[in-house]
Amino acid sequence: MLLNLFDYERAARERVAASAWDYQAGGANDEVTLRANRAAWEAIEIRYRTMVDVSRRAMATTVLGVPVSMPILVAPTAMQKLAHPDGESGMARAAAAAGALLVVSTTATTGLSDVAAVEPASPKWFQVYVYAGREHTEALVAQAVAAGYRALMLTVDTPVLGRRERDIRSGFTLPAGMQIANAVEAGMGAVPTATGEASGLMRHFRGLHDPSIAPRDIQWLRDLSGLPVVVKGIVRGDDARRAIDHGASAIVVSNHGGRQLDTAIATARALPEVVAAVDGQVEVYVDGGIRRGSDVLKALAMGARGVLVGRPPVWGLAVDGAAGAQHVLELLRDELDLAMALAGCPSLSDITPDLLAGAGAR
Ligand code: FNR
Ligand code: LAC
Repeated sequence: MLLNLFDYERAARERVAASAWDYQAGGANDEVTLRANRAAWEAIEIRYRTMVDVSRRAMATTVLGVPVSMPILVAPTAMQKLAHPDGESGMARAAAAAGALLVVSTTATTGLSDVAAVEPASPKWFQVYVYAGREHTEALVAQAVAAGYRALMLTVDTPVLGRRERDIRSGFTLPAGMQIANAVEAGMGAVPTATGEASGLMRHFRGLHDPSIAPRDIQWLRDLSGLPVVVKGIVRGDDARRAIDHGASAIVVSNHGGRQLDTAIATARALPEVVAAVDGQVEVYVDGGIRRGSDVLKALAMGARGVLVGRPPVWGLAVDGAAGAQHVLELLRDELDLAMALAGCPSLSDITPDLLAGAGAR
């Protein structure tokens, strides 16, 4: 039975090729941060309210002014055709059916215009990795604007790719027939094969990505696109302030799902500092280890506007294509609805910091 996200994780593992599974599931080095993200949400206790009329509940909201059915967004995850042949197109159908905002990765196995065309009316943001050949990124950003993406998400925790030892051991690269479409279309060629010390993806990043990302690049992307820029991968208040000072419209507290710097701080522990530093000036989202509706409730109580989920929708995609990814999002929605009912929160505005004890208390 597929009753929760962990059931999907187990079912997906049986369906995905071993090296692709390790790529999707894994983290950097000893995977300490990967585990810590999950453990930190679990450790926060809820001081639930009682004797509140919760007969009617609502969780529709907006992110950067875009209406969404729930405060749960689909995080950018690379190379979704590894999970299912429908890949990013299937994910776009799932997000549209669930009324969730979809963030599409630069490193997708489907071109950004093709993803946008699947469900053109459903809101999408484009996640930017900056290529050393900046003209390629400029061209992709122009394509994203033309295709109707509503914002850019600049990922700043990946100047170089983290060391995922599972991928080095497995010699991970894209199988024949799959490519990073945006790179190929821009004339940058195929993902290399792995070597003994680097996965194909590590070599792709080393060869093409720009490790010199700086705050001025936020303004650069704004000027290029006229779109709001969401900065993803921040775990410190001072970095959040720098991003805002350089034009960021929102911040994502993230450590890339434990895939970059191992032993990096768990996102549930980083969130309060960032929320305090931002002081309501822009929206703050968080990701990493969100697996239960109660985790979403905790994140919102700590001041997040919404959360993103990375691996879970990919598990859904692997199990049953678009329908599976949609079911994963709906399970999480139903769990959030239940958590709101049981915590005495009929609306999102009732989800306040006093609901938390322990690590999340402020
Ligand atoms: C990612 N993530 C990611 N982030 C990003 O900005 N661009 C990308 O292309 C990718 N690719 C990617 C692939 C895979 C397989 C995973 C698991 C993750 C990070 C992602 O957006 C998000 O920050 C984390 O996945 C959140 O953690 P959880 O929900 O997976 O625990
Ligand atoms: C990853 C990159 C592509 O985490 O963001 O694998």
